[in-house]
Amino acid sequence: MPITLPPINRRRFITGTLGGIAATLLFHPILNAETETQSQDVWAFLSDTHIPADRNKTGGNPSINPVEHLAQIRTDIFSGQTGKPCGLIVSGDCVYLHGLPNDYKTLLEEFLPFRKKGLPVHFVMGNHDNRQAFLNAVAQSIGEKSPQTIPARLHSIVETPKVNFFLLDSLDKTNHTPGLFGKEQIQWLTDELDSHRDKPAILVGHHNPDYSRNIVKASGALQDTTEFFEQIRERKQVKAYFYGHTHTWKTLRINGIHMINIPATAWRFDQNQPFAWVLLTLKDNGMSLTLRSIDPEHPKHNEILHLAWR
Ligand SMILES: [Fe+2]
Repeated sequence: MPITLPPINRRRFITGTLGGIAATLLFHPILNAETETQSQDVWAFLSDTHIPADRNKTGGNPSINPVEHLAQIRTDIFSGQTGKPCGLIVSGDCVYLHGLPNDYKTLLEEFLPFRKKGLPVHFVMGNHDNRQAFLNAVAQSIGEKSPQTIPARLHSIVETPKVNFFLLDSLDKTNHTPGLFGKEQIQWLTDELDSHRDKPAILVGHHNPDYSRNIVKASGALQDTTEFFEQIRERKQVKAYFYGHTHTWKTLRINGIHMINIPATAWRFDQNQPFAWVLLTLKDNGMSLTLRSIDPEHPKHNEILHLAWR
């Protein structure tokens, strides 16, 4: 069950408790006239935000400040230039490197302006995250006790009028590059997909599938790619898998399923890659993606892809 953080001025749990959480966190929006009528078909995807406790901390080559990058993206999202998202999904590596408690304190504070504007924020765990530190920080932010038990994976379903999002957790060990969904989560996913056949399913995780199909521990990719693909290939409601991890903007198709690699907002491993976020607009038979680069001069800025469902 997801937990819902209510508006700040009406602090109470609407569903679930931290002790019972077995899901990705949902920040409940502060509803206002604008968001109540907002389309549920437009979403903002961010990845690899790598927020540190210290807002002045920089990193990468060339050196950048992750908090400043997120601030620039906040301004762009709030401008509504390309469309007004109804919520955000952050596909992992939310914090700096080691998933430290104070990193999450800053992370939650830096995403607070979205909640204040009425946008829920869903965080997915990446290899630089730590479930316990994350859930403790959430508890602390709402004046609750830390959860007694930490689930092995934080997964959840976000239902919207056009699609169901399945938010997955591929964090194996903090600050250890490869990812793993694990048997239990893949079983959960297949069971839930089988009971949610009515709408297209969009899956979201942190790790990239190993497209080489030659899974080696050193690859840093999703170690159970084969098991994952075996289950989603034949379930025709699965239309797309969104992920981060490689800090790369890339799309391809496997068995008709769109594989969408969301670029990072912090660090880049390839100087040609943009620091960016992606606006998703759901259609009846597909989706469109608009890349929004922090640098408006980047050649991929405002690239729009129209992708049909298989
Ligand atoms: Fe990352």
